Parts: sequence; structure tokens; C-alpha cells
Amino acid sequence: MKAIHLHGRGGPEHLVYEEAPQPHPGPGEVVVRVYAAGVIAPELIWSATYETNAGSLRSLPIPGHDLSGVVEEVGPGVATITRGAAVYALTAFDRDGTAAEYTIALSEELAPKPRLLDHVHAAAVPLTALTAWQALFDQGQLQAGQRVLILGGSGGVGIFAVQFAHRKGAQVITTTSTSNVAFVRSLGADVVIDYTQTRVEDEVHQVDLVLDTVGGEGTASALATLKPGGTLLTIAGQPDVRQAQALGVRTAFFPAQMGDTPQLLTTVSRLIDEAQLRTSIAATFPLSEAAKAQELSQRGHGRGRIILHVA
Ligand SMILES: NC(=O)c1ccc[n+]([C@@H]2O[C@H](COP(=O)([O-])OP(=O)(O)OC[C@H]3O[C@@H](n4cnc5c(N)ncnc54)[C@H](OP(=O)(O)O)[C@@H]3O)[C@@H](O)[C@H]2O)c1
Repeated sequence: MKAIHLHGRGGPEHLVYEEAPQPHPGPGEVVVRVYAAGVIAPELIWSATYETNAGSLRSLPIPGHDLSGVVEEVGPGVATITRGAAVYALTAFDRDGTAAEYTIALSEELAPKPRLLDHVHAAAVPLTALTAWQALFDQGQLQAGQRVLILGGSGGVGIFAVQFAHRKGAQVITTTSTSNVAFVRSLGADVVIDYTQTRVEDEVHQVDLVLDTVGGEGTASALATLKPGGTLLTIAGQPDVRQAQALGVRTAFFPAQMGDTPQLLTTVSRLIDEAQLRTSIAATFPLSEAAKAQELSQRGHGRGRIILHVA
């Protein structure tokens, strides 16, 4: 089969499209024929990309952990899923990933692909929907009627965060650039700040929760929008804890957790099929152009995820 291998630590120039051994499932595993895979911008600097859970180095890791595809082969002891099932998933970061024609997944990682979406759009969902949900509800404890500021509402995570918060009944304020203002409003944002025209701290005050998906200087500015006792969660950098303490607000850096992924993705799949949730992709590339896709994703602009269209 064809796959993308990482030939060294560093940037997209280390991604090589080449032959790889066809995987076969062990006990509890399945082989999925990958139709589409999501590109994860910071993955090339994560240690889990290069090391197994036990700490040993992996040779020529395959990146990518979002997938949408079809179960090709089922390993011993797998009773919950059958060959031919259309599935989507977020697979573990310390195993070979999904930028390949076939990949191994654990049967308990898989959820039914949303029927309304093609594989390319389905592959845009797992990591970003999971991150947005866990940040808003598990970490942020967002309640109906609260004010939430989402920095970067047009990004992969932001698109789901805006929709989840709107569905919850929160007042949703978000930032984006001019070309995405109407788009984020259509997702349910009540107030949209065009960050190219307006400083968020000049316009937004007394919010209960900030979800920062952008990082950089905007994190400090967003702290000033919180009411005393409010919370800033960031998925894109470390907040200034001393500044937060001085303002009487709480901050946390939040990494997505894998534990409840399939249950959550099953819920998200249902919401998409009931036309209650939308997704968007910024660009697609063939598998052979994974390096170009990774370069584009590292720029951090666009409307949704960048996807490898594999089959
Ligand atoms: N901790 C975790 O578990 C976790 C999980 C997933 C992602 N992440 C991280 O979260 C970040 C976002 O990921 P993503 O996939 O959502 O990114 P993405 O799809 O690349 O989106 C970035 C978005 O941010 C917007 N943006 C850029 N600069 C902005 C600014 N100054 N103010 C407001 N919006 C701005 C862009 O909109 P315009 O095009 O309009 O500029 C774009 O829509 C990345 O750093 C990623 O590594 C972390």
C-alpha cells in the first residue's frame, strides 16, 4: 500500500509518500481502508508521534489520526464491528496514523460515520469536535445563558465550539477575519468580532468562559474580557498565570482526552445526520501531497480542516 512516512523530526519536508507494508489486524484490532484523513498542524513536534506509549522510538512513523473509511479486515475477538462498516475515528497518537491507504484501529475507537457526510467531510470531524466538546462542557462547564468568547470561530475546533455553545443556549461571541464573518454567524454566533478591524478587549466584557483556539498575543487580551471568577481555556499555548491571578480569573491549557471518544463521536454523528451540526473543510489534497497539506495547515488560516483525500 501507499503511505506517508516521517523520515525525521522537523517540518513537512520530512514527509515522504512511499510504499509501506499492508497492515493486518491483531486481537481486538481492525484494518480500515482509509478514504480520508485529517491533517493535524502541530503533530510533527509531538513526542507521541515518534515514541510509543512505552517510550521506545518508532521508525518511520505514519502521521494523521482522524480517519473516515470502511472496515476492511476484522481481527480475532472483535464482535462489535463487521467488514464493510463505514466508520470514522480519532486513533491513538502513539501508534501509526491514518495518512495511508490502510490503517490499524482498535475496534473500540470506531464510531459510525455520519451518513449525511462524504468521507472527506467526515474526516474533518473527530479531533476537532471532541476537543470543542470536552473544552466547553467537561472543562469549562458551560451553562445555558452564560456568555462565552471563542477565539478563532472559523477554525476546525472553532466551528464545532460555536455550534455546540449555541445549541447549549449560551450567548456566543467569536473572533474571525473579514471573509469568515458571515460564515460564523451562520453557525450560531451572536456577536462576531473581526480581528482585523477591532481589538476584542475593546468590545467584549464580562464573559464567563473564553475558549482560545488561536494562542499568541490574543490570549492575554482575552483575559481582560472575563468577569471575575471566569475561566480561560486554551488549546493553543500557555496562558500567563500571574496575569490571570491578578485579574481573579482561572486559566487552563487543555489537551483533548481520548477516553470517551467513540461515545461522543456517535452522538456527533447523530447530530450531523439530524442536520443539527455542520462541518466545513478548508482544502483537500491527495495523499501524495501530504507535505503541502501540512505546510498549509501550519499557517493557521482558512475555514475548517485540511483533509487528505486518500481513496
Ligand atoms: N489541545 C488540543 O487538544 C488541541 C486539539 C485540536 C487542536 N489544537 C490546537 O488548536 C489550534 C486550533 O486548531 P484548529 O484545527 O481549530 O485550527 P485551524 O483550523 O488552523 O484554524 C485556525 C483558525 O483561526 C483563525 N485565526 C487565525 N488567527 C486568528 C486571530 N488572531 N484571531 C481569531 N482567529 C484567528 C483562522 O481564521 P481566519 O482564516 O479568518 O484568520 C482559522 O479559521 C491549533 O493550535 C491546534 O494545534 C489543540
